[in-house]
Amino acid sequence: MGPGYLSGMADLDVLVVGQIARDLVLLVDEVPEAGGSAPVRERRELLGGKGANQAVAATQLGARAGLLGVVGDDEVGERLLAGARADGIDVETVVRRPGTRTGLIVDLLDADGRWRYLEDLPEATLLTPADVAGAAGALRAARAVLVQLQQPGAAALAAVRTARSADRLVVLDGAPSDPDDADELLAGADVWRADAREVALLTGDAPRDAAAGLAAGRALRRRGPALVAVEVPGEGNAFVWPDDEVFVPLSVTPTVDDTGAGDAFVAALAVGLLDGEPAERAARYAVAAAGATVGHPGGRPALTRAAVAEQLARIPAR
Ligand SMILES: Nc1ncnc2c1ncn2[C@@H]1O[C@H](COP(=O)(O)OP(=O)(O)OP(=O)(O)O)[C@@H](O)[C@H]1O
Ligand SMILES: [Mg+2]
Repeated sequence: MGPGYLSGMADLDVLVVGQIARDLVLLVDEVPEAGGSAPVRERRELLGGKGANQAVAATQLGARAGLLGVVGDDEVGERLLAGARADGIDVETVVRRPGTRTGLIVDLLDADGRWRYLEDLPEATLLTPADVAGAAGALRAARAVLVQLQQPGAAALAAVRTARSADRLVVLDGAPSDPDDADELLAGADVWRADAREVALLTGDAPRDAAAGLAAGRALRRRGPALVAVEVPGEGNAFVWPDDEVFVPLSVTPTVDDTGAGDAFVAALAVGLLDGEPAERAARYAVAAAGATVGHPGGRPALTRAAVAEQLARIPAR
């Protein structure tokens, strides 16, 4: 992607609405049984949470990204904010909640790439409609607003309504926590992206092959979004948009930890579309960004131009 689409310093290309947490990734050969112990082979402590991962990915791809999420008023929150700033993320709209500890996600990863997450995500680290109202100006000013639907429904809806009212590109990732919100959320979205489990929450069925993925994409498109991306586990991702559709297989690459691949995927899709790429190219770019994220432990993307180009070349032709 060229840097040509970058806006001036004042406005953001993408404002990501979602979770911020401390990620502690511990690599072991094998997870011990109760009463046992295992040496940690590698330990990584990162800025994490799905919202932060998406903002990191967008920034790495050359976009000017901001973050609307919540950290506590503890020392960890301070550290995560400093980290996000150092990553080039605009943290103006990050809420520091008094009396709250910052979220923690422990990713216990074994040598076969199987993860177990231990999550300490206090209720107070979730976004509220008031948090979203406080960031209304930023939501209206960003070129695109990327909403991660694991946040409480009322906050997600408020973010979508605000972005919509200013005619911003609205990109949604995931399935609504409350199914009653699904219709309004989908109707308010330009782009909607989900993994197979999340598709099943909305349609009742997880797609098992390319044809089913494309069919699910067409069905979901009728509910509002112009472009829909649907995961077919182990196979690839189906993309459906007004003029056409395509199924893009997974890139052929070794998987160490698939954590964060969906976050890199949706960020790259949004950046590609903002950059004016045709849908099919943005789709392949998204898949390449996901492929470039599964090769290392932890959810934090490490997207470079070279890494994305290498993954593009590893996507099989169909
Ligand atoms: N080798 C690969 N090449 C390209 N894409 C991949 C590869 N492996 C996984 N992916 C894609 O990465 C995405 C993972 O999405 P998913 O939403 O499940 O992950 P996540 O956002 O990291 O985690 P969560 O389950 O918490 O949302 C899927 O779209 C999947 O097709
Ligand atoms: Mg996901």
